[in-house]
Amino acid sequence: MKINVLNQKSGPTISKYIYGHFAEHLGRCIYEGLYVGKDSSIPNVNGMRVDVVEALKAINIPVLRWPGGCFADEYHWKDGIGPKETRNKMVNTHWGGVTETNHFGTHEFFELVRQLECEAYVNGNVGSGTVQEMSEWVEYITMGGTSPMADWRRENGQEEPWDMKFFGVGNENWGCGGNMRPEYYADLYRRYQTYVRQYGDKKIYKIAGGANVDDYHWTEVLMKNAHWLMDGLSLHYYVHPQGWEKKGSALAFDENEWYVTCEKAAHMDELITRHSAIMDQYDPEKRVGIIVDEWGTWFTAEPGTNPGFLYQQNTIRDAMVAAITLNIFHKHAERVHMANIAQTVNVLQAMILTDGEKMIKTPSYHVFELYKNHQDAELVDTYSSENNTVSYTVSKKDNQVTVSICNFSTTNTEEISLSLEQFGQVKEAQYIYAKEMNAHNDFDAPEVVSIQSFTDYKETNDGVSATVPPMSVTTIVIGE
Ligand code: AHR
Repeated sequence: MKINVLNQKSGPTISKYIYGHFAEHLGRCIYEGLYVGKDSSIPNVNGMRVDVVEALKAINIPVLRWPGGCFADEYHWKDGIGPKETRNKMVNTHWGGVTETNHFGTHEFFELVRQLECEAYVNGNVGSGTVQEMSEWVEYITMGGTSPMADWRRENGQEEPWDMKFFGVGNENWGCGGNMRPEYYADLYRRYQTYVRQYGDKKIYKIAGGANVDDYHWTEVLMKNAHWLMDGLSLHYYVHPQGWEKKGSALAFDENEWYVTCEKAAHMDELITRHSAIMDQYDPEKRVGIIVDEWGTWFTAEPGTNPGFLYQQNTIRDAMVAAITLNIFHKHAERVHMANIAQTVNVLQAMILTDGEKMIKTPSYHVFELYKNHQDAELVDTYSSENNTVSYTVSKKDNQVTVSICNFSTTNTEEISLSLEQFGQVKEAQYIYAKEMNAHNDFDAPEVVSIQSFTDYKETNDGVSATVPPMSVTTIVIGE
């Protein structure tokens, strides 16, 4: 396959927020995964797991979305502040019917964000919450002066307001967030967002609840009735190879299911193209971003685990889904302003899995690591010969060109010939690959899929030629 890199032309910036994450009160994502409490024997800082925080910082986590998901539209933030012993408990009806202690609340979330050195994306409750409740939450978080909510925050130990860059007005309001019609939600969005006040000089980026998969009508109605009042419109799309009802196993699948999974991941391109075309009619400048704040694989929960906890293993196939999808987001960088893979730890397509004090990084984590250079880089235009099983990105930052290539064929090695208008030297080349379709890391074998140095390349007269194995993701960095 020949890839001609037109590196003299400038393209859009790939927002680092495309590399965002999502953490819901679901299964063992927050509790055990991220937060163990100060008294835990697992090493922690103010209750947050040191190993997990360090691993996420190592992939430059830019933003974390919280508290849901479906949980967001049942969450009453006032239950999650003040002394832990007096916090109200609730039933997490969506996710296993377990008791939610509310020990992880607003203060804990902002402590986590502080440790991760990332931005906060808080998702408000429209489905079962009031306008006043949402408005007061924003006041509690961001008001610097004297006010009832700001004073309450101080009483609870936080003097200064926090930075909250992103705020979501409801989640999946076509489903778990209230089963609304788009016309009804559009009106509610207009009303609720009015009271998401900006108290300081920092703008809050407001995100309206967007469509499920290919519900283009939802996008049409939201844009028509409220586009000038939003900064972003969300989109949710999950890959389940055998469909929503059966989903399919994370570990036991055949070659056909491998390809179905990759094709379903590639479907993201059509979804973004079509939603964006509708948005173009109201917002040709692409001011309003598509915020893909839930994406990734969703398989049948691992046998023997609580089905409501959505715990699944993560294989080299998940790595293909991550790479294919990130390449699509890059291609649409002008419109896709943020994306948040679901979910950070122990839930769905997780970066990290934990078992007590043990922690492993998944193949998906390693893709985020291999793709780090693309954060806030300029997308570089290319043209290439046809290839149905290769997906790639070329970007430019700090006088370096980064090329990432995902070869999702199960059998074919690919000869990639990169032709660059301006050529430097290969500074770094790394990859992940596997020989088995379901290769994965586990607690007793944590490095089965891990980043390795890639040496199967040659510098040529006008670029680089590389031989990439099947089931691999490779990143080559070229610079002066
Ligand atoms: O990520 C799991 C769930 O998927 C979220 O809570 C919900 O928004 C979506 O349906």
